[in-house]
Amino acid sequence: MILEARGITHYYKNDLALDNVNFTAQKGEFIAIVGESGGGKSTLLSILSSLLRPTLGELFFEGKAYTQITNIDAFRQKDIGFIFQFHYLISYLTVLENIKLASLNPHDGYVETLLKQCGIEAIQNKYPDEISGGQRQRAAIVRALVNHPKVLFADEPTGNLDSHNSQNIYELFKTLSKGGTTIIIATHDRKVSEYADTLIEVNDGKIL
Ligand SMILES: Nc1ncnc2c1ncn2[C@@H]1O[C@H](COP(=O)(O)OP(=O)(O)OP(=O)(O)O)[C@@H](O)[C@H]1O
Ligand SMILES: [Mg+2]
Repeated sequence: MILEARGITHYYKNDLALDNVNFTAQKGEFIAIVGESGGGKSTLLSILSSLLRPTLGELFFEGKAYTQITNIDAFRQKDIGFIFQFHYLISYLTVLENIKLASLNPHDGYVETLLKQCGIEAIQNKYPDEISGGQRQRAAIVRALVNHPKVLFADEPTGNLDSHNSQNIYELFKTLSKGGTTIIIATHDRKVSEYADTLIEVNDGKIL
């Protein structure tokens, strides 16, 4: 087990967003969190990825409690990767420059490997506003992968993509998970069930 959450409850002020949720992820597992809008998917993803501290509950990464991780910045930089719905590439930098900015070892050749694997080698020297939404999303995926994260989190990674581009991204996640990277995504897209190992439904703050 790479990640475990026990009894996660989260309130935003007085509003209950998550109600006693338990969650586990295995190494190399591809997990999709689905459910209605406002159900708690993004809240759960933010908590699992250490961005948001839950009101109640415990979290463990490789058996170690998040509260015991002494260098949380290094954990966020090296052990996990994030992809947000709106990719937030820097518009003044090319795709390659955006990716290298995030890398701890920008000259180790891995960026080039990932660009090839994600099929965006040809557009690496273009600026974000010169490429398609699907290419931008793939650039954000490469950026999230540059430091070899053990777990990749993505919130609505295909939110603004057509079904063809969405399926390419799910295929890529599937390949990554087979290579041992744990993938945890939140999505509205039920098509993901054809690719994910595990589907978790979150509604009204509860896992069904
Ligand atoms: N920053 C916030 N402050 C206050 N309430 C919030 C905040 N973020 C989310 N909520 C509330 O918490 C609940 C869960 O929201 P969350 O964003 O986790 O849902 P979601 O499943 O990701 O929804 P969507 O599918 O629309 O992205 C909702 O009732 C939402 O209004
Ligand atoms: Mg959300």
